[in-house]
Order: sequence, then structure tokens, then C-alpha cells
Amino acid sequence: MKTIPENLRKRMRWLRGDITRLDVDAIVNAANPSLRGGGGVDGAIHRAAGPELLRWCIEHCPQGVDYGQAVISPGFDLKARYVIHAVGPDCRRFRDEEQCAGLLRAAYRNSLALAAEKQLESVAFPNISTGVYGFPKEKAAPIAVETVAEFLERHHFPRRVIFAVFDAENARLYRELLGEETTETDE
Ligand code: APR
Repeated sequence: MKTIPENLRKRMRWLRGDITRLDVDAIVNAANPSLRGGGGVDGAIHRAAGPELLRWCIEHCPQGVDYGQAVISPGFDLKARYVIHAVGPDCRRFRDEEQCAGLLRAAYRNSLALAAEKQLESVAFPNISTGVYGFPKEKAAPIAVETVAEFLERHHFPRRVIFAVFDAENARLYRELLGEETTETDE
């Protein structure tokens, strides 16, 4: 992976913890195409946001959302003002590695474009597709970091991106890519 220039590096942080508790402008949900909730971080976000979130998804996305795409909703009971629902590749379905990688990049890029449109200061991402969807973590982490760095190079917003890491393997990977964990989301 190519070195991230310092001016971008300081806009990208990672921390170990539950994304639903972060006081940021938007948290990204690792959703499925139905946008009707699910397990993993999807389930955690719907539980923390409350039932209004599911009602919003049903009303605004009756047909759901395609793989690689993202939509933005209010955060309702969450500390975050918005939830960006991104659908990463389901690697149990998409066997082609390049296709999976392309859809993962698109999920990050489309989420960032929604944040840029609203000129958000801070956005937190989970490790999209690395749980139920089975994208290998050691491959997903550099794709996520590179895609975010490329986007931030060309956009003032979001000002800061936080990778909210939940498990030990991802923590090791993000430490290798971005150095030591940060404690604050508003650094
Ligand atoms: N905060 C941050 N990260 C979390 C949290 C949380 N509260 N809970 C889980 N994670 C991490 C997992 O450890 C994993 O690294 O989020 C990453 C993504 O895992 P999943 O939630 O399983 O999402 P994904 O792999 O993208 O699969 C999406 O799973 O939950 C269903 O409805 C969802 O069908 C969709 C599929």
C-alpha cells in the first residue's frame, strides 16, 4: 500500500469500540440490500437508533439499495446526526475477487460522497463486509484506507474519518496501516 501523505493521515483515525456510541456527524452502517436491518453492526445500529430508523428505511427505500451503493438517513436516537447505510459486497455470493473489491471501494466512496454533499465534519466507518459478508479482513483494510485517502485528497469534507474497529484482527490491521489507536473522535 502506498504511503499516506501527512496532510491526509491526520484526517484518518481508528479506534477500537462500538460505533453506535460515537459522537460523530455520521456513522456508516454495514447494511444489506433490503435495508430492513439484520445482525452484526446493522442490528446494533438499529437497536441504538430505535424503531424510527426502520420506519424511515421502509418509507424511503421501499426497493432497498444495491450492493456498492449507500443512502443517508437521520440518526434518530443515536448520538450521530446521520446514519449512512452502505451495502458492501456479500463475498458468499460474489466469488470474483476483483468484483468484490470494486463493490467494497464503491461502498466507501458512495458513503463519503453523501457525507461531502452534507459537508459533514466527521464520519465513522465499521469494517464493511468483513463479518457476515466474509470479505477477508487483511484485504478489506488496505482497500478501505486507500479508498478513503483517495477521496479525502480531492475533498475538504468530511474533515475527519474514523474507522471504528470491533475485533482484535481488524485492530492489528488498522494499527499496521494507521499507527496507534486514537482515543478521541474530535482530534
Ligand atoms: N461497532 C463497530 N463494528 C462492529 C459492531 C459495532 N457495534 N458490531 C459488529 N462490528 C463489526 C464486525 O466485527 C465486522 O468487523 O462490523 C464489521 C462488519 O460485520 P457485519 O456487521 O457482519 O457486516 P457485514 O460483514 O458487512 O455483513 C452485512 O450482516 O448484519 C448483517 O444485515 C447485515 O446482511 C448484512 C450483513
